Amino acid sequence: MRENANNDRFDLVLFGGTGDLAMRKLLPALFYGVRDGGLAGATIIGAARQPLGIDEYRALLTEQVPRHIGEADFDDAVWQRLLSQVRYVAIDATQPADFAALAAQLSNDEAVPRVFYLATTPSLFIPICQHLQSAGLVTPATRVVLEKPLGRDLASSRTINDAVGEIFTEEQTYRIDHYLGKEMVQNLMALRFGNTLLEPLWSRSYIHDVQITIAEELGVGTRGEFYDNTGALRDMVQNHVLQCLCIVAMEPPASINADSVRDAKLQVLRSLRPYLEGDLPHKTVRGQYRSGAIEGAPVTGYLKEDGIAPSSQTETFVALKAEIDNWRWAGVPFYLRTGKRMQERLAEIVINFRPVPHSIFETASGTPHNQLVIRLQPDDGLGLEINTKTPGDSMRLSPKLLNLALRDTREARRLDAYERLLMDVVRGRLALFVRRDELEAAWAWIEPIRDGWDRSGEAPKGYTSGTWGPAASSALVGRFGCAWHEED
Ligand code: BG6
Repeated sequence: MRENANNDRFDLVLFGGTGDLAMRKLLPALFYGVRDGGLAGATIIGAARQPLGIDEYRALLTEQVPRHIGEADFDDAVWQRLLSQVRYVAIDATQPADFAALAAQLSNDEAVPRVFYLATTPSLFIPICQHLQSAGLVTPATRVVLEKPLGRDLASSRTINDAVGEIFTEEQTYRIDHYLGKEMVQNLMALRFGNTLLEPLWSRSYIHDVQITIAEELGVGTRGEFYDNTGALRDMVQNHVLQCLCIVAMEPPASINADSVRDAKLQVLRSLRPYLEGDLPHKTVRGQYRSGAIEGAPVTGYLKEDGIAPSSQTETFVALKAEIDNWRWAGVPFYLRTGKRMQERLAEIVINFRPVPHSIFETASGTPHNQLVIRLQPDDGLGLEINTKTPGDSMRLSPKLLNLALRDTREARRLDAYERLLMDVVRGRLALFVRRDELEAAWAWIEPIRDGWDRSGEAPKGYTSGTWGPAASSALVGRFGCAWHEED
């Protein structure tokens, strides 16, 4: 497929056009696209069930979207230009007849790319794709974007992929994992493959353990019902956490093209050691938040949140010890951790290097090991702890931080993850989207954990909101002689 240029003609249909994702992420992304001089050839068609006229839809967007655009960035002239490119079609996704109305809004020229963005519940993915096809709306230049979660397990994700695959080729299918669009996740590739410095050290020979943490302060908010049926393992580990792990652990790809990168990530997923039932008690922890305080304000426990079953056993916290069975990583634990209502909003990857083989300095507990911290959010950057001599006449060492705060040093405005990904769909770039085999390998790996937990019937461990999770999480890494970054 030819790469689309910034101002080429294209049609973008947002299913879920009145929903949260459209208002919070997709329309702001389009605003910035217009503001930066692009999207002149775009027609944006909101599609949702509500019977709205175009003026009502534009008014709804004007009411809800600007608050998600930085105040300093908002420009009414740009906003009006964007609105003039917006259309609306009322569609009940389960009613094939409704799709005919969409045809009238799309270009008749089959060479014009069409993007169908499915920001809806996954149960609508199959009917929407089928009805698009029956209405004759799928052209060779069409792309479909699927939001996560894609299924609940391996079988249901296969069912969706099979059905979507009947209509769209793999090259037409863009599976979103918005972590892949984050600046620092991309920077991790730059760090690993754009420098000679790290790669020789990037293996079991020099790395003791790797930690990946994605912690949120937020609770389940208004998504209680969805979340209670999902849990942190499916919501975060299966996708965001594992994608980060893949980029840390993958072999250097032959090129930056989509399939080279995705082949390299797939190899990692396929090398993850499967969990046996007996592994779960000492290699996994699941927790559920209780009441507590976030930044000094009291917050309610999970079981009291809206939409949560009274005796729900859904986990809001997961910690795992993962192992990668290949030459590069054999014997190096990857500790993975994610949770809601944690002490801080923090996403980081910590590389703990091995200690020096023989310490010649005067320290009580040996020479401290080097540590590289790759911060994804809130402020992206890199921190490297290196040992230096403590001033004075004795030869004592202390670790000093070499800190690179990327937010301060960058001139260009940074793109939101969704902005980058949406533009990549329009341009026809697949590299930052998840291929079917990757997705299925990720589901296959988490399934024994999910099944084992369900079979055990054990309740998740409670943790106080505003902490780093249940005590069992520290115990998990402690059992293998490690400590989480913030506790070491
Ligand atoms: C989403 C999850 O995929 O990622 C949410 O469904 C979570 O539960 C969100 O809050 C976190 O994304 P970010 O970009 O805020 O770290």
